[in-house]
Amino acid sequence: MERKKIFITRKINSIAVELLKNYYDVILTNKTDSPTKNVMIKKVKNVYGILCTLSEKIDSDIMDAAGSNLKVISTLSTGYEHIDIGEATKRGIYVTTTGNILSEATADLTFGLILALSRKIVEGHLYVIDGKWQKGWAPDLFLGSNIYGSTLGILGLGNIGTAVAKRANGFNMNIIYTNRHQLSKSIENKLNVTYVTFDQLLKNSDFLSIHTSFDKDNFHLIDSIELKKMKKTSFLINTSRGSIINEISLIKALKNKWIAGAGLDVFEKEPLPNQHELLKLKNVILLPHIGSATVQTRNQMSEVAAINLHNILSKKKPLYLVNRELLQNLG
Ligand code: DGY
Repeated sequence: MERKKIFITRKINSIAVELLKNYYDVILTNKTDSPTKNVMIKKVKNVYGILCTLSEKIDSDIMDAAGSNLKVISTLSTGYEHIDIGEATKRGIYVTTTGNILSEATADLTFGLILALSRKIVEGHLYVIDGKWQKGWAPDLFLGSNIYGSTLGILGLGNIGTAVAKRANGFNMNIIYTNRHQLSKSIENKLNVTYVTFDQLLKNSDFLSIHTSFDKDNFHLIDSIELKKMKKTSFLINTSRGSIINEISLIKALKNKWIAGAGLDVFEKEPLPNQHELLKLKNVILLPHIGSATVQTRNQMSEVAAINLHNILSKKKPLYLVNRELLQNLG
C-alpha cells in the first residue's frame, strides 16, 4: 500500500525523522536553513502533514499547494503566529505545537540575560579577552547592580513566567506580575508573587521580563510611553516575541538612557539586519532567538512535533492542539 506523504521543512532531530519514516513517505529538505516559499510550494504537493518551524510562513498559498489531503500542520515551536490558524481551521486542518516543553530552558536563558545585564558579564569577558585588564582588581571595575533583593516584573505569568518566578525566589527577588487574569491566591502564595497593574509593573520593576505570548493585541505593547515610565536604572528582558516591543522606541530609550539596558533574544525582524541600530548600542545583550536551544529541549520538541503529526494522521488526540474546535472530528 502506498504510504502517505508528509513534508518536514528542514533538518530536525533524527529520532523524530526516523519515527515518522516508520509510517510515512517523508519528504525532507535536509537543509538546516528554512526553505523559500517557492520550494515549499513544490514540496508540499499532496502531503497529509507538514512539520514546520516558526521561520516558515504557512498561509493559504501553502495550504492550496498541498491540496485537500493536508490534515495537519505540526510546528516545532510553542508560538504559532507564522501559521494562518483561521484558514487552517476553515479547511479542517489541525495545527499542533510543542506546548510548554521549552519553559524551563527559556526561563534559564531569561535568567542568563538578567545576570549578564546586571553584572556586566559580557562586557567583562570582552575586556579580559581584548587584553584590556592591565591593572588587576579595582574598587570600581565593572560595577553592576544587585539582583538579590531587587524587584522582578513579569509580564505574562504563564508557563515560562512561572518558571522564571521560581528561579527569582532563589535570588530573594520581590516578584510582581501582570497578566490577562490574576492568578488564584493559592498560586500567588506558592510562587510568592504579587499581582499589580501594568502601570505599576512598569514603574516598579528593576528587571522587567516579557513572557506573554504574541498576538495582535500586544503588538508594540511596550512603546515610548511605557518605556518612559520605567526606572532609569531598570533592565528590559525579552525572550518572547520581538513585536511586543516597538524596537524604534526601545532604541530611543536605550540611547537616551530612559532605561539602563536591554537583553533581547527576539526581534521584530529575524535575523536582525546588518547595520541595525541595536547592534551599535553598548547597553544591550543580543542573542539569536535561542530561548529553547538546549539539546534536551530541542530533541524533546522534535519528538513531540513528530508525535503530534502522527497522532492526527492516526485519528488520535495530539499533545498540543491550537484549533481545539476540531477535536470533535477526531476518531
Ligand atoms: C517557540 O517555540 O515559540 C520559540 O520561540 C522557539 O523555540
